[in-house]
Amino acid sequence: MIFLKTDEEIELLRENNILVSKTLAEVGRHIRPGVTTKELDRIAEDFIRSHGAVPAFLGYQGYPASLCISVNEHVVHGIPSDKIVLKEGDIVSVDCGTFMKGFVGDSAYTFAVGEVAEEVRQLMEVTKEALYKGTAQAKAGNRVGDISAAVQEYAEKFGHGVVRELEGHGLGRKMHEDPGVPNYGARGRGPLLKEGMVICIEPMINMGNKSVVFEEDGWTVRTRDRKPSAHYEFAVAIRKNGPDVLTDFSIIEQAI
Ligand code: MF3
Ligand code: CO
Repeated sequence: MIFLKTDEEIELLRENNILVSKTLAEVGRHIRPGVTTKELDRIAEDFIRSHGAVPAFLGYQGYPASLCISVNEHVVHGIPSDKIVLKEGDIVSVDCGTFMKGFVGDSAYTFAVGEVAEEVRQLMEVTKEALYKGTAQAKAGNRVGDISAAVQEYAEKFGHGVVRELEGHGLGRKMHEDPGVPNYGARGRGPLLKEGMVICIEPMINMGNKSVVFEEDGWTVRTRDRKPSAHYEFAVAIRKNGPDVLTDFSIIEQAI
């Protein structure tokens, strides 16, 4: 069941997603060689709580942390650890969620640690651009498949693998609402987009093959070929005048 949101509800979702953006900016300021992903998680949890929200991921289906931090071949859902130490040339996908005033925020950004290889930099840029291409299709009268196809076509043009096993979702009082928003699909197919819908679009794009495996810890998803993967996520409201992006990457990009 898809829940349409009022203008007031969309503003509460925006408040959450701006806090997520600010949290990702704060995390980004601390990303450097030598820092552990556990330290980054602690920084995010303190930041979220000091702004009157709670980390939405913590305890979600038993998830043990406030962030998902996925380094290099880890695609998503990496569990922060004091054993994972960042080093120059890594890429780090950080996914963050907040809960405040009855609504959820959920966004993700992939950061570079110092200088990264040219092809890895390109993977990051293509993944972010795929998110923008998908977002442009998030308008009333389109279908979910228009978003999916735009993401897939753009990423595949560069020979990258589009992960199939995980997808975007509706966002509201719960982190995962209908509809599912796959990163692959056909134009003109899937649920109709209507004014008042709020969705998360979140391409997970692999430099190499699209196939992934689930690690023993029950959470971490990694690429089968162990090549790097990138992940960016926007929360987007579908409004009368088109897509209204509730996440603000410029806050993150000014910080790093
Ligand atoms: N943010 C992820 C998503 O977009 C979910 C995180 S899973 C959790 O679907 F268990 F960590 F919460
Ligand atoms: Co999400």
